[in-house]
Amino acid sequence: MGQADIGLIGLGTMGSALALNIAEKGFTVAVFNRTVAKTHAFVEEAGELAERVVACDTLEALTGALKGPRAIILMVPAGNPVDEQIESLDPYLDADDLVIDAGNANFRDTMRRMETLERPFLGVGVSGGEEGARHGPAIMGGGNPDHWARVEPVLTAISAKFEGAPCAALLGENGAGHFVKAVHNGIEYADMQLIAETYGLMRDGLGMAPPQMAEVFGEWNEGRLASYLIEISAEVAAAHDAATDGPLLDVIVDAAGQKGTGRWTAIEAQHLGTPIPVIEAAVAARNMSAQRELRGVLADAFGGADKLDLKLDTLEAALICGKVLCYTQGFDMLRAAAEAFDWTLMREDVARNWRAGCIIRSAMLDDMAEAFEVAPGRTLMEAPYFAEILSETIGALREVVVAASGAGLPVPAMAAALGYFDTMRMARGTANMIQGQRDYFGLHGFVREDTGDSDQHGPWADE
Ligand code: 6PG
Repeated sequence: MGQADIGLIGLGTMGSALALNIAEKGFTVAVFNRTVAKTHAFVEEAGELAERVVACDTLEALTGALKGPRAIILMVPAGNPVDEQIESLDPYLDADDLVIDAGNANFRDTMRRMETLERPFLGVGVSGGEEGARHGPAIMGGGNPDHWARVEPVLTAISAKFEGAPCAALLGENGAGHFVKAVHNGIEYADMQLIAETYGLMRDGLGMAPPQMAEVFGEWNEGRLASYLIEISAEVAAAHDAATDGPLLDVIVDAAGQKGTGRWTAIEAQHLGTPIPVIEAAVAARNMSAQRELRGVLADAFGGADKLDLKLDTLEAALICGKVLCYTQGFDMLRAAAEAFDWTLMREDVARNWRAGCIIRSAMLDDMAEAFEVAPGRTLMEAPYFAEILSETIGALREVVVAASGAGLPVPAMAAALGYFDTMRMARGTANMIQGQRDYFGLHGFVREDTGDSDQHGPWADE
């Protein structure tokens, strides 16, 4: 057995950054990549940190370089590559060696692996992109506490810190870590879509140019919206394109890519029966963005949109409101999953974990952690601090959605947020009509409002 503290397989962008982060924090990391040349190039570029990197050309060399019981992080593409990697690694491992999947795995795969693998296994979500992986990501753990304890010193050392507190935690059992990462990405999609819609209103409704918008986003980043995503939106809007001598944003094709995690969140929300319409709207919006050709044809057929008359303060307040409603849905989904999968997952722990390092990090997440502590078991909309923000800003969201709809400008995520709010604050909804219809055509039965009697039928049952 060797002396390296931890192993890492997969020296892609995220894997390389994570390995350097580990070495920088004083741990010795043994690394392996399928393409051996990449391993050597990595060590050459590691500079001073190379003294704490052990380059391994084979899996046998990797496992031989590690202290026992071993701990090996996998940073390979999600899906089959993870299973294949585990299979090829297995002959070189001892029974109590720990494998950690730190990729963007589907949590159902993680649950399956944990059930079928006869060895310690952790499913860990890592967020923060390359920069985060290199200097401090948010790390969302799932699995057995004893297994987590074995790598906790490394994972907390490399994680981002919020006012000194590490953003690395075991958040629940088996697939919980990867589930939380998927919901993080669902929220990420929604947060980005809400910002993109605001950008669209400034561009098409108010006729603003990207450098002006950069200033607006910059100002918003000083207030309640302060967040990484607003900060980078300001930088993206400010970027200049040398080739056209104009804003870079104007030459970026308007079709969003996606690797699937946002979609997984929408799919799982349907399985759980939990409403996340803002996230679903964001996933659908990415799908619509991909249909560029059709959009061109329909723009010719139906014409474009009108100008808007909106104050920038109103837009800011609408964005705050949409954001609170979107996070409400994401956190409610976590609560529903904890119940369905019997996880000890606590929303305040997740909110704390997301305060630094990850893509959706923001000042508001600290307040959310506090809100869940103050009002355990309640939705964010009921927590006094956020209830007040909603009361203050819902008028602005309504004004923006109404104005945008009137002008023919698309705001699918904002409209979904408003629809959710209006539906959820309606004590007497409209599903009584649906129940009447279901009973009419299928004798599905309904519950009476006045007596509480269930399995009731309308007069059509006797016909
Ligand atoms: C993160 C990001 C990261 C990655 C996503 C982007 O938290 O660091 O979410 O995981 O950027 O893969 O996802 P899409 O390609 O689906 O936008």
